Amino acid sequence: MQTFSAHYASHIEEMQKRTKEALVREGIDGLVIHSGQSKRMFLDDNNYPFHVNPQFKAWLPVIDNPNCWLVVNGVDKPKLIFYRPKDFWHKVPPEPNDYWAAYFDIVLLTQADAVEKHLPYDKARYAYIGEYLEVARALGFDLVNPDRVLHYLHYYRAYKTDYEMACMRQSSEIAVAGHRAAEAAFREGLSEFDINQAYLRATRLGDNQVPYNNIVALNENAAILHNMVTDTDAPEHARSFLIDAGATCNGFASDITRTYSREQDRFAELIAAMDKVTLDLIEQLKPGAKYLDIHLSAHQHIGRLLTEFEIINMSPQDAVEKEITKTFFPHGIGHFLGLQVHDVGGHIADDRGTPNPPPQEHPFLRNMRTVEARQVFTIEPGLYFIDSLLADLRSSPESKYVNWNIVDMFKPFGGIRIEDNIIVHRDRNENMTRELGLQ
Ligand code: GLY
Ligand code: MN
Ligand code: MN
Repeated sequence: MQTFSAHYASHIEEMQKRTKEALVREGIDGLVIHSGQSKRMFLDDNNYPFHVNPQFKAWLPVIDNPNCWLVVNGVDKPKLIFYRPKDFWHKVPPEPNDYWAAYFDIVLLTQADAVEKHLPYDKARYAYIGEYLEVARALGFDLVNPDRVLHYLHYYRAYKTDYEMACMRQSSEIAVAGHRAAEAAFREGLSEFDINQAYLRATRLGDNQVPYNNIVALNENAAILHNMVTDTDAPEHARSFLIDAGATCNGFASDITRTYSREQDRFAELIAAMDKVTLDLIEQLKPGAKYLDIHLSAHQHIGRLLTEFEIINMSPQDAVEKEITKTFFPHGIGHFLGLQVHDVGGHIADDRGTPNPPPQEHPFLRNMRTVEARQVFTIEPGLYFIDSLLADLRSSPESKYVNWNIVDMFKPFGGIRIEDNIIVHRDRNENMTRELGLQ
Protein backbone atom coordinates (compact mmCIF):
# COMPACT_ATOMS: atom_id res chain seq x y z
CA MET A 1 0.00 0.00 0.00
CA GLN A 2 2.85 2.32 0.88
CA THR A 3 4.46 1.81 -2.55
CA PHE A 4 1.20 2.68 -4.24
CA SER A 5 0.70 5.83 -2.21
CA ALA A 6 4.34 6.93 -2.69
CA HIS A 7 3.90 6.90 -6.47
CA TYR A 8 0.31 8.06 -6.73
CA ALA A 9 0.93 11.82 -6.92
CA SER A 10 3.14 11.48 -9.97
CA HIS A 11 0.66 9.05 -11.53
CA ILE A 12 -2.11 11.65 -11.26
CA GLU A 13 0.27 14.30 -12.59
CA GLU A 14 0.95 12.16 -15.66
CA MET A 15 -2.76 11.45 -16.17
CA GLN A 16 -3.47 15.18 -15.99
CA LYS A 17 -0.75 15.93 -18.53
CA ARG A 18 -2.04 13.33 -20.99
CA THR A 19 -5.60 14.53 -20.54
CA LYS A 20 -4.67 18.15 -21.14
CA GLU A 21 -2.92 17.37 -24.41
CA ALA A 22 -5.76 15.11 -25.58
CA LEU A 23 -8.22 17.95 -24.89
CA VAL A 24 -6.14 20.48 -26.83
CA ARG A 25 -6.14 18.15 -29.81
CA GLU A 26 -9.89 17.68 -29.67
CA GLY A 27 -10.54 21.35 -28.92
CA ILE A 28 -12.75 20.71 -25.88
CA ASP A 29 -12.67 21.54 -22.17
CA GLY A 30 -12.88 18.19 -20.45
CA LEU A 31 -13.80 14.54 -20.22
CA VAL A 32 -16.61 12.94 -18.30
CA ILE A 33 -15.59 9.35 -17.65
CA HIS A 34 -18.28 6.88 -16.67
CA SER A 35 -17.27 3.82 -14.62
CA GLY A 36 -20.16 1.87 -16.18
CA GLN A 37 -23.48 0.36 -15.17
CA SER A 38 -24.76 -2.98 -14.09
CA LYS A 39 -26.06 -5.01 -17.03
CA ARG A 40 -29.22 -7.03 -16.59
CA MET A 41 -29.36 -10.52 -18.08
CA PHE A 42 -32.04 -11.06 -20.74
CA LEU A 43 -35.47 -11.85 -19.22
CA ASP A 44 -33.85 -12.14 -15.83
CA ASP A 45 -33.43 -10.09 -12.69
CA ASN A 46 -29.74 -10.87 -12.24
CA ASN A 47 -26.85 -8.82 -13.53
CA TYR A 48 -23.72 -9.85 -15.41
CA PRO A 49 -20.51 -9.41 -13.44
CA PHE A 50 -19.51 -5.76 -13.50
CA HIS A 51 -16.37 -4.79 -15.44
CA VAL A 52 -15.28 -1.21 -15.05
CA ASN A 53 -14.43 1.11 -17.95
CA PRO A 54 -10.63 0.90 -18.30
CA GLN A 55 -10.45 4.69 -18.81
CA PHE A 56 -11.95 5.04 -15.34
CA LYS A 57 -9.67 2.62 -13.52
CA ALA A 58 -6.69 4.25 -15.25
CA TRP A 59 -7.17 7.06 -12.71
CA LEU A 60 -7.93 5.31 -9.47
CA PRO A 61 -8.16 1.86 -7.89
CA VAL A 62 -11.96 1.69 -7.89
CA ILE A 63 -12.86 -1.32 -9.97
CA ASP A 64 -16.09 -2.63 -8.51
CA ASN A 65 -18.42 0.34 -8.34
CA PRO A 66 -20.85 1.12 -11.19
CA ASN A 67 -22.51 4.56 -11.65
CA CYS A 68 -19.38 6.50 -10.71
CA TRP A 69 -18.09 9.39 -12.79
CA LEU A 70 -14.90 11.38 -13.20
CA VAL A 71 -14.82 14.92 -14.51
CA VAL A 72 -11.30 15.83 -15.62
CA ASN A 73 -9.76 18.69 -17.56
CA GLY A 74 -6.05 18.10 -17.02
CA VAL A 75 -5.63 21.22 -14.87
CA ASP A 76 -8.13 21.36 -12.01
CA LYS A 77 -8.33 18.76 -9.29
CA PRO A 78 -10.31 15.87 -10.80
CA LYS A 79 -13.85 15.50 -9.57
CA LEU A 80 -15.05 12.05 -8.53
CA ILE A 81 -18.76 11.38 -8.34
CA PHE A 82 -18.81 8.30 -6.15
CA TYR A 83 -21.89 6.08 -6.05
CA ARG A 84 -23.10 5.16 -2.57
CA PRO A 85 -26.73 4.19 -2.76
CA LYS A 86 -29.01 3.51 0.16
CA ASP A 87 -29.35 -0.19 -0.43
CA PHE A 88 -30.20 -3.02 1.92
CA TRP A 89 -29.86 -5.71 -0.80
CA HIS A 90 -26.23 -5.17 -1.72
CA LYS A 91 -23.03 -4.21 -0.03
CA VAL A 92 -22.48 -0.47 -0.26
CA PRO A 93 -18.85 0.62 -0.66
CA PRO A 94 -17.45 2.71 2.19
CA GLU A 95 -16.83 6.42 1.69
CA PRO A 96 -13.45 6.81 0.02
CA ASN A 97 -10.73 7.58 2.54
CA ASP A 98 -7.74 5.69 1.12
CA TYR A 99 -4.45 7.33 0.07
CA TRP A 100 -5.90 8.11 -3.37
CA ALA A 101 -8.99 9.95 -2.14
CA ALA A 102 -7.08 13.17 -1.39
CA TYR A 103 -6.41 13.61 -5.11
CA PHE A 104 -10.08 14.04 -5.97
CA ASP A 105 -12.87 16.40 -5.09
CA ILE A 106 -15.41 13.80 -4.11
CA VAL A 107 -19.17 14.07 -4.17
CA LEU A 108 -21.35 11.19 -3.11
CA LEU A 109 -24.18 10.03 -5.34
CA THR A 110 -27.07 8.14 -3.76
CA GLN A 111 -29.21 7.77 -6.88
CA ALA A 112 -27.62 6.71 -10.14
CA ASP A 113 -30.04 8.75 -12.26
CA ALA A 114 -29.45 11.93 -10.28
CA VAL A 115 -25.95 12.47 -11.62
CA GLU A 116 -26.89 15.29 -14.00
CA LYS A 117 -26.63 18.04 -11.35
CA HIS A 118 -23.00 17.11 -10.67
CA LEU A 119 -21.90 17.18 -14.31
CA PRO A 120 -20.67 20.23 -16.22
CA TYR A 121 -23.50 22.40 -17.51
CA ASP A 122 -22.10 23.03 -21.00
CA LYS A 123 -22.03 19.48 -22.39
CA ALA A 124 -20.92 20.69 -25.82
CA ARG A 125 -17.45 21.43 -24.40
CA TYR A 126 -17.08 17.93 -22.87
CA ALA A 127 -16.77 14.41 -24.21
CA TYR A 128 -18.41 11.38 -22.62
CA ILE A 129 -15.96 8.48 -22.25
CA GLY A 130 -17.74 5.24 -21.59
CA GLU A 131 -19.81 2.38 -22.84
CA TYR A 132 -23.38 3.65 -22.42
CA LEU A 133 -24.13 5.73 -25.48
CA GLU A 134 -27.83 6.08 -24.64
CA VAL A 135 -26.93 7.46 -21.21
CA ALA A 136 -24.53 9.93 -22.84
CA ARG A 137 -27.24 11.09 -25.27
CA ALA A 138 -29.85 11.38 -22.54
CA LEU A 139 -27.49 13.57 -20.52
CA GLY A 140 -26.93 15.80 -23.55
CA PHE A 141 -23.44 14.82 -24.72
CA ASP A 142 -22.88 15.02 -28.48
CA LEU A 143 -19.26 14.02 -28.33
CA VAL A 144 -18.89 10.38 -27.29
CA ASN A 145 -15.56 8.55 -27.15
CA PRO A 146 -13.92 10.80 -29.74
CA ASP A 147 -11.26 8.96 -31.75
CA ARG A 148 -8.64 11.67 -31.37
CA VAL A 149 -8.86 11.55 -27.57
CA LEU A 150 -8.91 7.77 -27.35
CA HIS A 151 -6.02 7.30 -29.77
CA TYR A 152 -3.93 9.73 -27.80
CA LEU A 153 -4.70 8.10 -24.44
CA HIS A 154 -4.29 4.59 -25.82
CA TYR A 155 -0.95 5.36 -27.40
CA TYR A 156 0.52 6.74 -24.16
CA ARG A 157 -1.00 4.06 -21.99
CA ALA A 158 1.86 1.88 -23.20
CA TYR A 159 4.24 3.89 -20.98
CA LYS A 160 3.59 2.83 -17.44
CA THR A 161 3.93 5.20 -14.49
CA ASP A 162 5.78 4.06 -11.36
CA TYR A 163 2.41 3.55 -9.66
CA GLU A 164 1.27 1.30 -12.49
CA MET A 165 4.48 -0.72 -12.35
CA ALA A 166 4.00 -1.20 -8.60
CA CYS A 167 0.46 -2.46 -9.25
CA MET A 168 1.71 -4.83 -11.92
CA ARG A 169 4.45 -6.26 -9.70
CA GLN A 170 1.84 -6.96 -7.06
CA SER A 171 -0.47 -8.48 -9.64
CA SER A 172 2.36 -10.79 -10.72
CA GLU A 173 3.06 -11.77 -7.13
CA ILE A 174 -0.56 -12.78 -6.60
CA ALA A 175 -0.59 -14.84 -9.80
CA VAL A 176 2.68 -16.57 -8.91
CA ALA A 177 1.14 -17.76 -5.63
CA GLY A 178 -1.71 -19.20 -7.70
CA HIS A 179 0.65 -20.93 -10.12
CA ARG A 180 2.52 -22.59 -7.26
CA ALA A 181 -0.71 -23.91 -5.79
CA ALA A 182 -1.87 -25.08 -9.22
CA GLU A 183 1.32 -27.03 -9.86
CA ALA A 184 0.99 -28.74 -6.48
CA ALA A 185 -2.63 -29.63 -7.30
CA PHE A 186 -1.52 -31.12 -10.63
CA ARG A 187 1.17 -33.20 -8.88
CA GLU A 188 -1.57 -34.43 -6.52
CA GLY A 189 -3.56 -35.68 -9.49
CA LEU A 190 -6.55 -33.34 -9.19
CA SER A 191 -8.98 -32.51 -12.01
CA GLU A 192 -8.83 -29.33 -14.10
CA PHE A 193 -11.75 -27.97 -12.09
CA ASP A 194 -10.06 -28.63 -8.77
CA ILE A 195 -6.71 -27.30 -9.96
CA ASN A 196 -8.50 -24.09 -10.94
CA GLN A 197 -10.08 -23.91 -7.48
CA ALA A 198 -6.63 -24.32 -5.91
CA TYR A 199 -5.36 -21.46 -8.09
CA LEU A 200 -8.22 -19.15 -7.12
CA ARG A 201 -7.95 -19.99 -3.45
CA ALA A 202 -4.25 -19.12 -3.41
CA THR A 203 -4.80 -15.81 -5.22
CA ARG A 204 -7.79 -14.84 -3.03
CA LEU A 205 -9.58 -13.88 -6.25
CA GLY A 206 -12.97 -15.03 -7.43
CA ASP A 207 -13.79 -16.33 -10.88
CA ASN A 208 -14.97 -12.88 -11.93
CA GLN A 209 -12.00 -11.04 -10.50
CA VAL A 210 -9.26 -12.63 -12.58
CA PRO A 211 -8.39 -10.62 -15.71
CA TYR A 212 -9.46 -13.38 -18.14
CA ASN A 213 -10.89 -16.85 -17.78
CA ASN A 214 -8.17 -19.12 -16.45
CA ILE A 215 -6.91 -21.67 -18.95
CA VAL A 216 -6.36 -24.92 -17.08
CA ALA A 217 -5.64 -27.92 -19.29
CA LEU A 218 -4.52 -31.49 -18.71
CA ASN A 219 -3.15 -33.82 -21.39
CA GLU A 220 -4.62 -33.30 -24.90
CA ASN A 221 -6.58 -30.27 -23.66
CA ALA A 222 -3.31 -28.35 -23.54
CA ALA A 223 -3.64 -28.16 -27.34
CA ILE A 224 -6.82 -26.08 -26.97
CA LEU A 225 -5.44 -22.54 -26.92
CA HIS A 226 -8.27 -21.20 -24.79
CA ASN A 227 -9.40 -24.25 -22.86
CA MET A 228 -11.81 -22.47 -20.56
CA VAL A 229 -14.22 -25.30 -19.85
CA THR A 230 -12.66 -27.28 -17.04
CA ASP A 231 -13.26 -31.00 -16.69
CA THR A 232 -14.56 -31.88 -13.23
CA ASP A 233 -13.23 -35.45 -13.41
CA ALA A 234 -9.52 -36.11 -13.07
CA PRO A 235 -8.11 -38.17 -15.95
CA GLU A 236 -6.76 -41.59 -15.08
CA HIS A 237 -3.28 -40.41 -15.87
CA ALA A 238 -2.45 -36.70 -15.97
CA ARG A 239 0.69 -36.63 -18.10
CA SER A 240 0.93 -32.92 -18.77
CA PHE A 241 -0.49 -29.66 -17.48
CA LEU A 242 -0.74 -26.21 -19.05
CA ILE A 243 -2.01 -23.28 -17.00
CA ASP A 244 -2.45 -19.75 -18.34
CA ALA A 245 -3.78 -17.63 -15.50
CA GLY A 246 -3.32 -14.12 -14.16
CA ALA A 247 -4.42 -11.86 -11.35
CA THR A 248 -5.37 -8.24 -10.82
CA CYS A 249 -4.14 -5.57 -8.48
CA ASN A 250 -5.88 -2.19 -8.50
CA GLY A 251 -7.22 -3.16 -11.91
CA PHE A 252 -3.85 -4.10 -13.45
CA ALA A 253 -3.42 -7.55 -14.95
CA SER A 254 -0.79 -10.24 -14.92
CA ASP A 255 -0.89 -13.04 -17.51
CA ILE A 256 1.38 -16.03 -16.86
CA THR A 257 1.59 -19.47 -18.44
CA ARG A 258 3.48 -22.55 -17.33
CA THR A 259 3.56 -26.11 -18.66
CA TYR A 260 4.57 -29.22 -16.72
CA SER A 261 5.20 -32.86 -17.49
CA ARG A 262 4.64 -35.45 -14.80
CA GLU A 263 7.63 -37.59 -15.75
CA GLN A 264 11.16 -36.77 -16.85
CA ASP A 265 10.23 -37.76 -20.42
CA ARG A 266 10.73 -36.40 -23.93
CA PHE A 267 7.92 -33.91 -23.37
CA ALA A 268 9.74 -32.59 -20.30
CA GLU A 269 12.80 -32.08 -22.51
CA LEU A 270 10.70 -30.18 -25.00
CA ILE A 271 9.38 -27.97 -22.16
CA ALA A 272 12.95 -27.26 -21.01
CA ALA A 273 13.96 -26.33 -24.56
CA MET A 274 10.93 -24.08 -24.86
CA ASP A 275 11.79 -22.38 -21.60
CA LYS A 276 15.15 -21.39 -23.11
CA VAL A 277 13.32 -20.02 -26.14
CA THR A 278 11.16 -17.80 -23.89
CA LEU A 279 14.23 -16.46 -22.10
CA ASP A 280 16.12 -15.90 -25.36
CA LEU A 281 13.21 -13.94 -26.83
CA ILE A 282 13.00 -11.85 -23.66
CA GLU A 283 16.68 -10.99 -24.16
CA GLN A 284 15.68 -9.51 -27.52
CA LEU A 285 13.05 -7.32 -25.88
CA LYS A 286 15.03 -4.08 -25.67
CA PRO A 287 14.43 -0.41 -26.40
CA GLY A 288 14.70 -0.01 -30.16
CA ALA A 289 13.75 -3.60 -31.03
CA LYS A 290 10.71 -4.17 -33.20
CA TYR A 291 8.18 -6.41 -31.50
CA LEU A 292 7.41 -7.98 -34.88
CA ASP A 293 11.05 -9.11 -35.14
CA ILE A 294 10.71 -10.97 -31.84
CA HIS A 295 7.66 -12.75 -33.23
CA LEU A 296 9.61 -13.69 -36.38
CA SER A 297 12.53 -14.85 -34.28
CA ALA A 298 10.12 -17.08 -32.34
CA HIS A 299 9.24 -18.85 -35.59
CA GLN A 300 12.94 -19.52 -36.21
CA HIS A 301 13.25 -21.00 -32.72
CA ILE A 302 10.15 -23.16 -33.20
CA GLY A 303 11.59 -24.40 -36.51
CA ARG A 304 14.80 -25.33 -34.71
CA LEU A 305 12.96 -27.21 -31.95
CA LEU A 306 10.85 -29.08 -34.50
CA THR A 307 14.06 -30.21 -36.21
CA GLU A 308 15.95 -31.02 -33.01
CA PHE A 309 13.10 -33.11 -31.64
CA GLU A 310 12.75 -34.81 -35.04
CA ILE A 311 9.18 -33.70 -35.42
CA ILE A 312 10.08 -32.59 -38.94
CA ASN A 313 12.83 -33.69 -41.35
CA MET A 314 13.80 -30.38 -42.88
CA SER A 315 15.86 -27.35 -41.93
CA PRO A 316 14.39 -24.81 -39.50
CA GLN A 317 14.70 -22.17 -42.19
CA ASP A 318 12.67 -24.22 -44.68
CA ALA A 319 10.08 -24.95 -42.01
CA VAL A 320 9.58 -21.22 -41.51
CA GLU A 321 9.54 -20.50 -45.25
CA LYS A 322 7.00 -23.23 -45.97
CA GLU A 323 4.95 -21.96 -43.02
CA ILE A 324 5.10 -25.29 -41.22
CA THR A 325 6.01 -23.58 -37.95
CA LYS A 326 2.57 -21.95 -38.05
CA THR A 327 0.91 -25.33 -37.60
CA PHE A 328 2.71 -25.70 -34.28
CA PHE A 329 2.81 -22.04 -33.20
CA PRO A 330 -0.37 -20.45 -34.55
CA HIS A 331 -0.64 -17.35 -32.30
CA GLY A 332 1.27 -14.13 -31.66
CA ILE A 333 4.36 -13.91 -29.47
CA GLY A 334 2.66 -11.66 -26.93
CA HIS A 335 1.14 -8.26 -26.25
CA PHE A 336 1.13 -5.16 -24.11
CA LEU A 337 -0.05 -5.81 -20.57
CA GLY A 338 -1.71 -3.33 -18.23
CA LEU A 339 -5.24 -2.25 -17.38
CA GLN A 340 -6.40 -4.84 -19.86
CA VAL A 341 -4.74 -8.19 -20.33
CA HIS A 342 -4.31 -7.44 -24.02
CA ASP A 343 -3.58 -3.81 -23.42
CA VAL A 344 -4.45 -1.23 -26.05
CA GLY A 345 -2.21 0.68 -28.42
CA GLY A 346 -0.32 -2.17 -30.10
CA HIS A 347 -1.76 -1.52 -33.54
CA ILE A 348 -1.28 2.23 -33.80
CA ALA A 349 1.88 3.84 -35.09
CA ASP A 350 1.58 7.20 -33.32
CA ASP A 351 -0.56 9.24 -30.96
CA ARG A 352 -2.91 10.25 -33.78
CA GLY A 353 -3.87 6.64 -34.22
CA THR A 354 -2.30 5.99 -37.62
CA PRO A 355 -3.08 2.30 -38.15
CA ASN A 356 -0.20 -0.12 -37.87
CA PRO A 357 -1.79 -3.53 -38.41
CA PRO A 358 0.14 -6.80 -38.32
CA PRO A 359 1.33 -8.23 -41.64
CA GLN A 360 -1.15 -10.45 -43.47
CA GLU A 361 1.00 -13.53 -42.80
CA HIS A 362 0.87 -12.92 -39.02
CA PRO A 363 -2.68 -11.68 -38.36
CA PHE A 364 -2.71 -12.63 -34.67
CA LEU A 365 0.23 -10.49 -33.64
CA ARG A 366 -1.15 -7.93 -31.20
CA ASN A 367 1.73 -5.51 -31.20
CA MET A 368 3.59 -3.74 -33.99
CA ARG A 369 5.31 -1.04 -31.94
CA THR A 370 9.01 -0.46 -31.41
CA VAL A 371 9.93 -1.51 -27.89
CA GLU A 372 10.59 1.36 -25.47
CA ALA A 373 11.38 1.82 -21.80
CA ARG A 374 8.41 1.75 -19.38
CA GLN A 375 6.48 -0.60 -21.61
CA VAL A 376 5.22 -3.89 -20.20
CA PHE A 377 4.86 -6.99 -22.35
CA THR A 378 4.17 -10.66 -22.27
CA ILE A 379 6.42 -13.03 -24.19
CA GLU A 380 4.65 -16.34 -24.76
CA PRO A 381 5.97 -18.73 -27.37
CA GLY A 382 4.06 -21.96 -27.80
CA LEU A 383 4.34 -25.33 -29.48
CA TYR A 384 1.17 -27.37 -29.77
CA PHE A 385 -0.16 -30.52 -31.37
CA ILE A 386 -3.57 -29.29 -32.54
CA ASP A 387 -5.72 -31.84 -34.34
CA SER A 388 -7.36 -29.52 -36.87
CA LEU A 389 -4.12 -27.79 -37.87
CA LEU A 390 -2.23 -31.09 -38.08
CA ALA A 391 -5.00 -32.51 -40.29
CA ASP A 392 -4.54 -29.58 -42.71
CA LEU A 393 -0.80 -30.16 -42.80
CA ARG A 394 -1.24 -33.86 -43.28
CA SER A 395 -3.39 -33.36 -46.35
CA SER A 396 -0.94 -30.86 -47.89
CA PRO A 397 2.15 -31.56 -50.03
CA GLU A 398 4.29 -30.57 -47.00
CA SER A 399 3.09 -33.68 -45.16
CA LYS A 400 6.25 -35.49 -46.27
CA TYR A 401 8.40 -33.22 -44.11
CA VAL A 402 6.65 -34.36 -40.94
CA ASN A 403 7.60 -37.39 -38.88
CA TRP A 404 4.07 -38.38 -38.03
CA ASN A 405 5.12 -41.09 -35.60
CA ILE A 406 6.86 -38.45 -33.47
CA VAL A 407 3.81 -36.18 -33.70
CA ASP A 408 1.68 -39.10 -32.50
CA MET A 409 4.06 -39.63 -29.60
CA PHE A 410 3.69 -35.98 -28.47
CA LYS A 411 -0.02 -35.55 -29.16
CA PRO A 412 -1.26 -37.00 -25.85
CA PHE A 413 0.63 -34.17 -24.08
CA GLY A 414 -1.27 -31.43 -25.95
CA GLY A 415 1.23 -28.62 -26.09
CA ILE A 416 3.44 -26.10 -24.39
CA ARG A 417 3.26 -22.39 -23.69
CA ILE A 418 5.58 -20.49 -21.38
CA GLU A 419 4.60 -16.88 -20.73
CA ASP A 420 6.42 -14.28 -18.67
CA ASN A 421 5.55 -10.65 -17.87
CA ILE A 422 8.31 -8.14 -18.42
CA ILE A 423 8.86 -4.46 -17.69
CA VAL A 424 11.37 -2.97 -20.13
CA HIS A 425 13.64 -0.42 -18.50
CA ARG A 426 16.18 1.73 -20.33
CA ASP A 427 19.13 -0.38 -19.19
CA ARG A 428 17.62 -3.75 -18.24
CA ASN A 429 14.58 -5.95 -18.33
CA GLU A 430 12.62 -6.69 -15.22
CA ASN A 431 11.15 -10.13 -15.71
CA MET A 432 8.55 -9.87 -12.96
CA THR A 433 7.59 -13.52 -13.26
CA ARG A 434 11.11 -14.91 -12.82
CA GLU A 435 12.16 -12.36 -10.22
CA LEU A 436 9.35 -13.71 -8.06
CA GLY A 437 11.00 -17.10 -8.32
CA LEU A 438 8.58 -18.85 -10.68
CA GLN A 439 10.69 -21.02 -12.95
N1 GLY B 1 -4.21 -15.40 -21.57
C1 GLY B 1 -4.32 -14.91 -22.88
C2 GLY B 1 -3.01 -14.61 -23.44
O1 GLY B 1 -2.03 -15.21 -23.05
O2 GLY B 1 -2.84 -13.74 -24.24
MN1 MN C 1 -1.76 -15.89 -21.12
MN1 MN D 1 -0.79 -13.35 -22.94
